[in-house]
Amino acid sequence: MNKPKLKIAVFASGYGSNFEAIAKACQSGEIKAQVVLMVCDKPTARVNSLADELGVERMTFSAKDYASKAEYEAEIVERCKALGVELICLAGYMRLVGETLMEAYEGRMINIHPSLLPSFAGKDAVERAMEWGVKVYGATIHYVDSTLDGGKIIAQQAIPYEGDSIDELMAVIHPLEHQLYIDTIKKLTKQTK
Ligand code: GAR
Repeated sequence: MNKPKLKIAVFASGYGSNFEAIAKACQSGEIKAQVVLMVCDKPTARVNSLADELGVERMTFSAKDYASKAEYEAEIVERCKALGVELICLAGYMRLVGETLMEAYEGRMINIHPSLLPSFAGKDAVERAMEWGVKVYGATIHYVDSTLDGGKIIAQQAIPYEGDSIDELMAVIHPLEHQLYIDTIKKLTKQTK
């Protein structure tokens, strides 16, 4: 009998290219999982229309409509639990995770970051790395804890680059992130192919 597919929620705040890569890899059968929910804290972000196009249920919210982080996270947890979410993938979700989400999904929540952590945690990581004259860039996937881009590292991939064009570098880092996320989800689901 076929194993039931792992149920994933992807959290994003912006463009959504990582969400798109994960959702499409699930839909094509490359990853034996299903993205059952996309959570976004920015109503105008492109990722929302992308979720609609891909037929992925979404929860879009504005933090300012809630009295506290605990309140909106309680709603997120409720929605995730109702859909049977087993793994949360943060993909450009630009918010610190609070206690409510941590208590519900600690050890089952992962994040991608466009640097070789623990270097350059936080916003604009690639730009800041370039200002430092970094010669090896990359991406990291790690378990989420309550600190900014903190938590035990699961996977990393490095890419040498000595130019000075952010656009050129981003054009390399994004596809690298997408593949790293897909490969990592496969590993976590013990799927080798
Ligand atoms: C990605 O590069 C991701 O690594 C980064 O946001 C981007 C989202 O792109 N995340 C962080 O910086 C987390 N601190 P996307 O919306 O196209 O997937």
